[in-house]
Formats: sequence, C-alpha cells, structure tokens
Amino acid sequence: MFDMSRAEFGDGFVFGVATASFQIEGGQTDGRGSSIWDTFSATPGNVKGGDTGLIACDHYHRWPEDLDLIRDGGFDAYRFSLAWPRLIPEGTGAINQAGVDFYDRLIDGMLERGLKPFATLYHWDLPSPLQDRGGWTNKDIAKWFTDYAVLVQQRFGDRLASIATINEPWCVSFLSHILGIHAPGLRDLRAGARSMHNVLYAHGAATEAMRAEGGSEIGIVFNYNHAVPASESEQDKQAAHLWDGVFNRWFLGGVLTGAYPEDLVAILAPYMPEDYQADMKLVGTPIDWLGINYYSRNIMAYDPGRPVFPVKPLDGPLDKTEMGWEIFPEGLEKLLLRITNDYPKVPLYVTENGMAEIEGLDDKRRVKYYNDHLQALLRAKRQGADMRGYFAWSLMDNFEWAEGYTKRFGLVHVDYKTQKRTPKASYRAFQGMLHNTR
Ligand code: FCB
Repeated sequence: MFDMSRAEFGDGFVFGVATASFQIEGGQTDGRGSSIWDTFSATPGNVKGGDTGLIACDHYHRWPEDLDLIRDGGFDAYRFSLAWPRLIPEGTGAINQAGVDFYDRLIDGMLERGLKPFATLYHWDLPSPLQDRGGWTNKDIAKWFTDYAVLVQQRFGDRLASIATINEPWCVSFLSHILGIHAPGLRDLRAGARSMHNVLYAHGAATEAMRAEGGSEIGIVFNYNHAVPASESEQDKQAAHLWDGVFNRWFLGGVLTGAYPEDLVAILAPYMPEDYQADMKLVGTPIDWLGINYYSRNIMAYDPGRPVFPVKPLDGPLDKTEMGWEIFPEGLEKLLLRITNDYPKVPLYVTENGMAEIEGLDDKRRVKYYNDHLQALLRAKRQGADMRGYFAWSLMDNFEWAEGYTKRFGLVHVDYKTQKRTPKASYRAFQGMLHNTR
C-alpha cells in the first residue's frame, strides 16, 4: 500500500498508466508498414535474446481486456502511442484504413470506460521507408511528421485529451544516432547533432500545424537524468554539467526558451544543419504542457579518453533496479523544482516513472519505488511545481527495446506464452489509493 491519499494530489490531478505501440501491440498485419524497430530487432545482436515486437503483448487484439485493467485499477487516463507505420505504411502518402479503424476502436474504448486518451505521436517506431531517406537526420522529416500529426489531429483530435508530439527526443537522437543503442543504431556525431535539432524542429512544426487544425493540449515528453559529479574535482563537476547539457539542458532550452545552451552549441555546431538558427523560433513554439519521464540518476566522471564528450557514467552505490539504474526518488523532486525555477512556467506531468523488477507478483520493491517517487512529486508540488498528473510506466510487462522481454516494468504481469495478464501488488497499491475516487 502507498502511504499517501489521493486527495493530497489535489482536484483534477490525473493518474494514468503509460505504454507505447511497438512495445505492446504486435499485430503487424492489416496493412501495417515496417518500422525501424522491426528491422533493428531482426538484426542479430541488437536486442537481447533476438526478441522482436512481432507479437509483444498482442494488444492489437487484446486491447479491450487491457483497457478494462486500466479502468479497474481506478486510473483516469491512458498514455498510449500511435504507430506511424500502422496509419501511413510508407511514412508519407497512402493511409491504411485498418490502422485508422484500430485507433478509432481503441480511443472509443477508452471513452466508453471513462478513460482520458493521452496520445503520443512518436514513440520510436519510424516507418522504414523514411529511414531510407535519412530519417531524423533529414530535415524533411519536419514535413513528413507534420503531415502525420495533422492526420491524427483530423481523425482523432476531437476525442483526445492531450497529444505529445515526441517521446524522449534524447533517445530518438543521442541514444540512437551517437551511442547506437536504439534503432537505427548509428554511431555518428553528424547524424546525432542533426537528429538532436531536427527532432525538436519537427516537434515545433507539427505543434503549429495541429493548432491550426484546432488542436489543443499539445506538449512534448522529455526524459531526464539527474547528473551527479563523481567527486568534488572541477573536472568531474564539468563532466556532470556536460552530461546534464546533453540529456536535459539541450531539450529544455530549445523547447522552453528557443535557444540551445552555449556550451553544447560550441561542441555540436560544426555538425548541425547550416541554417539551424533560423528554426529556433519554431523549436521554441509555446507548448501547453511538458511531460517528464524520470527513472534514475547518473554519477558522471571526467574521461579524457572520449574527446568530444569527455564524460563517463560510474557505478553508483544506491540500490538498483533490474536495469542497473540507481533508485533515487529525490532526483525527481530536484528536477521538477529545477524546471519550475529555471525555465518559463508550464504545466507539468510525470509521463513515465517505474522500475524493472523480476520478483513475481508480490513486487514489494516496486510498490516502495512508486510510493517514494509519488512522495517526491508531492514535495515538489508543495514547493510550487505546477503538477497536473502522473503516469506509471508501465501498465504491463512489455518489449523493453534493446533489452527485449528480459526486463519487466509492468504493474500487470504478462505470461508471453499464454498472453495471460495478472495484476501485481503494485497494481493493487494504485488501485487501493485510487479506488472509487474517479
Ligand atoms: C523510457 C521509454 C519507455 C520505456 C522506459 C523503461 O525511456 O520511453 O518506452 O522503455 O524507458
């Protein structure tokens, strides 16, 4: 059980669960096109155990049962993502009617159950034909993405409570184009710098276009990492500051102030699109809310062996999740306050928070993890952070990207052989707090 009551979060505070299309849907039939995660996961060595998203949680067919679970847990909202290649198989051009019908059913299913649909347009399943044209390294993606966003706004917008353009631009760009860990698996500075800009430029262009179509409640979701210097040395402090820049300040600065931080520009300018300054107004287009995904902190040390970003993460001393991520709830409080105090004010949601754990159905450590992070959120709220909602990652165990099915983040256990869903103690803990309050 949690040690707080729902009332402490205030009237109108939204509780939800989050998922993403590629991680749960499967159902790669009915005209859905290929995505970069299909081919990345089909390539040996990229995903643990050779796991793929072919079937995943079979949510494409089992969505009614999954929505029932969300309703029965007492949640108000469901944060889900739409698969671009399911709606527009080639990325641009012809629309797949079966895909439109699927999201029609899903969204109507939420409304029938009294759940608010919080949609994410891009949670990483880029149509493969667009990757063939350079994907996020090609500035034309702003146009491709905008056309897709407008389609979503026109077909579904009247039934959506909120739209996020992009989930975690750091992962879309840095993790996928410089570190090579996620699709498309590039390890290239120029590709990285271009994608770090183009992803925010596309966000701004799509936001304006959706607004012109009557869209409202449009935001973006960042992932944050609380960077701590490994020692008191000047070099380690600078390393932590640099990592904070790559992870947090670049995206916050771009979207909330229309400018990238100077220290990062000094490093990345040679690799950026030539005319990027001209795009900054659009990058900084006002948003209605900001989403924050928070999981952990990083201890950062200076590493002269890495010339461009001379910084490396060290193993920290705190308790860790199955991902090897340190459990540090105070980091959430600090980040929420920092965003509140250092940037122009904007309504905030925690759009993801949770932990991987393999301990069966009685997931006590996860219950404590959620409890302690919810307390951190409440502390930030009491100190002035404009908190509007909280989404647990994730509704159910699912395809954890490069980790495949080895990591389980769900409030609900999934038996991948039978697709049976079984609520864990963490689901019951939310249910206990939220029950009968909707
Ligand atoms: C976030 C992703 C989400 C999930 C969690 C564990 O970075 O947005 O899809 O994989 O991490």
